[in-house]
Amino acid sequence: MASAKKVKLCSISDLNEGDIKGFKVENKNIMVIKFNGKIYVYDALCTHKNCNLVRMGLLKDNKIVCICHSSEFNIESGEPINGLAKKPLIRYDFIIEDGSVNVIIP
Ligand code: FES
Repeated sequence: MASAKKVKLCSISDLNEGDIKGFKVENKNIMVIKFNGKIYVYDALCTHKNCNLVRMGLLKDNKIVCICHSSEFNIESGEPINGLAKKPLIRYDFIIEDGSVNVIIP
């Protein structure tokens, strides 16, 4: 069985409040979000029709909104709240180490 892999994405100091930053890791589109001082790491593709939320996502209240067809996801859990998306966003574990955000790829 392959073991999980840790990949550095960015420095914490590169993240501003309200940012959605995209990274390509092992052919996955990953986004790092900073909202209300907290960091979240999710797959960037909307689970409705794969719009990339780095370009097509907005943060509103405690939600990630996909502007392609207005699906809304809970920012804490990735669960769909409203709209056409029925599956949650894929959430990745991450580690903050030496001032950097490192995603864990299972
Ligand atoms: S692709 Fe995101 S709501 Fe349709």
